[in-house]
Order: sequence, then C-alpha cells, then structure tokens
Amino acid sequence: MSADSSSGPKSEAAASETLRPEPVTTVKLKGTGSYTPKRVLTNKDLTEIVETTDEWIVTRTGIRERRIAAPDESASDMAVEAATRALASAGLSANDIDLVIVATITPDMPFPSTACLVQDRLGMRKVCAFDVEAACSGFIYITEIATAMLQSGRFRHALIIGTEKLSSILDWKDRATCVLFGDGAGAAVLSSQAPSGSGVIDTRLGSDGSSSGILYMPGGGCRIPASGESVAARHHFLKMNGREVFKIAVRIMEKATLEILERNRVPLEQVRCIIPHQANVRIIEMLSDRMQIPMERFHVNLDRLGNTSAASVPLALDEALTQKKIGTGDYVVLVAFGAGLTWGATLVKL
Ligand code: UT7
Repeated sequence: MSADSSSGPKSEAAASETLRPEPVTTVKLKGTGSYTPKRVLTNKDLTEIVETTDEWIVTRTGIRERRIAAPDESASDMAVEAATRALASAGLSANDIDLVIVATITPDMPFPSTACLVQDRLGMRKVCAFDVEAACSGFIYITEIATAMLQSGRFRHALIIGTEKLSSILDWKDRATCVLFGDGAGAAVLSSQAPSGSGVIDTRLGSDGSSSGILYMPGGGCRIPASGESVAARHHFLKMNGREVFKIAVRIMEKATLEILERNRVPLEQVRCIIPHQANVRIIEMLSDRMQIPMERFHVNLDRLGNTSAASVPLALDEALTQKKIGTGDYVVLVAFGAGLTWGATLVKL
C-alpha cells in the first residue's frame, strides 16, 4: 500500500520517494455509472433561502445549480442507481461482485454500513461489504483499498461507490456553506486481470488530522451525541472555514498530482485529462495556472452539480467517459482533498 498517514506536508517528500511495489495483477477499470437526483436547485432558488446572489455564487465558486435528493431518497438509494449503471457498463451482474466498498459522509444511518444496504438491495451474494469515511477524498481512498484487495488475489470484481446526500447535513441558514454542496452518486467496477500495461496504475494517499477543525460536523458522534441541546446549537450541520480549506486544497492537489506522475515516470503532457474533486472552479483554475495545463484538460461539472464530496470524482469520471472526452489508452489522474484533512491521487491508464 502507498498510504501515508503521517503528519502532513513534512513527510510528503519522503513518502513520494518510496518505490512502488510491482503489482502482481492488473486492476482494470471495467465500468462506471452515476446518478443524480431529479430536483435542480438553482442559485436563484437559493436567494429565497439565504442572503446571497447568483453573481456571488458564480464568481466565487463557478456553481450555477446543484441536485437535491427527494426527502425519502437516501445515500443507499442513489448508490444502488449508480451501481446498477456501473455493472451494466462493465458487462457484469451483481452476482459477479465479491467486494463492495462505499465512501460517504452521509450514510443512511451510523450503522449498519451503507455498503451492506447496497449489497442487499442489489441482491448480491453475501460478500464483503463496508464503508469508508474519508470525506471528499473517499473515492480515491476506496480505489486504493479495492485495488490492494484485488491484487491480493482474494477478490475478482469490486464495486466501489461514492454517494452523498449532503443536503441532509447542510445548515440552510449558513450562506457560506449551503450554496456549495449537492447530492448524487458515482460508481465504478474494478476487476483483477492478468498483468497488462493499463488499469489502475498507482494511488497516493495522505492525511493531516491537525487541520480537522477547518471542515467538520461536531454532532452525532460519541463526543456530542444527539440531544435537544445539540440540535439547538446546530451541531448536526457541516461547518467549514472555506478560506483555509481553499488555500490548502490548491497546494495539496497540485502536489499529489505531480507526485503520482513523478513516481510512475509519466510526464504531465501525456495525461489526457485530470478529474479533480469538484469544490470550486477557482481551485481548478489555480491548479491549471500553477501546473501550466489548459483548463480543457480538467473535467469540470461543478457548475451543474456543485460539490458532492465522495461522489464528486466518480460522477466526473463517468461523465468524462460518457462524453468520450477520455477513452482507451488515455492516462487520467483522479485527484481529491477533503475533511480530515485527507487527500489522494490515482493514476489510471484506460
Ligand atoms: O470539498 C470540501 C472542501 N471545501 C472547499 O473546497 C471549499 C473551499 N473554499 C471555497 O471554495 C471558498 O473559500 C468559498 C467559496 C467557501 C468562499 O469564498 P471566499 O472567496 O473565500 O469568500 P470568504 O469566505 O472570504 O467570504 C467573503 C465574503 C464575506 O463577507 P465579508 O466578511 O467580506 O463582508 C462572506 O460573509 O463573502 C460573504 N459570503 C457570501 N456572500 C454572499 C459568504 N458566503 C456568501 C454567499 N453569498 N453565499
């Protein structure tokens, strides 16, 4: 595994020098799928909820609209839809899957895992299923976990899903956060195959818990369990210091992208497309500027979907594949950062 959970920036250089072990099998991206709820919430709609303007939201974030799940639509419902489409695109049935991993910060409930609900709803065999909580980096984390498990030879086909109903943890009185996020799900099927030159080539992960206080939800865990007071104090909503997160995001996504390419000796010019976490178009523009690659080589859909946390990267990946912006033989980098803080980058050759 290439995980590095030691203390952030200081240890990053050392970790990047670690040699990647040669994989015994290739892990192929066999298929992708996504799902977004029907209801569109525009910036204009938001002006009726909080004191904001379409102009502020567009110029500060690039977001024009986002999707909001129906009251009775849960993270597992959206995951099932995305997973069904990913299975169809992989040409596999639910019965072929022997590993299910869901990344989410908005599970249907604290336990059991959303992955178990998906396993049941898809009528799968009684296979290994569990959730991972790495916020917006969740899909990169589960890509690495599934890849390592497939490479162990113990599993053949993994279904990995990022799904979020962020609308359920937004403070609709806080204009600094409620305008940024949306709901949706993205899924992928990864399969082990005989060694070849394509597939999931490498992943690099990191974390820095010393910055946990800039993006978090204080209530609902054992420290502040649900109570009348915790609800009144609005502890069950997402809290963020946006400016701090922004600064770190740009630096960490650039570093993670360059490190994964350097470690695998793939020049940036050979990368057809970067699929970044969809938080703010200004973050992506700064990356484009710092890495000197045109914006056309980033896939951006946050204008229509906002920030969907763990669903953001797989939703964008599925869209880029569906639009044929990327295809067989292309190098693609998936890169994300999020609460934790966590970050990660994956290099894939399609
Ligand atoms: O995936 C999770 C990771 N999260 C992120 O990546 C978010 C990263 N951060 C950001 O994208 C940006 O920091 C924000 C979009 C959240 C905020 O943009 P900013 O340019 O950093 O604005 P700010 O927080 O510095 O606020 C500037 C002003 C403030 O007013 P004053 O104090 O200057 O009078 C805010 O109160 O904008 C005000 N403001 C708003 N005004 C209208 C904050 N939210 C809004 C709003 N509408 N929705």
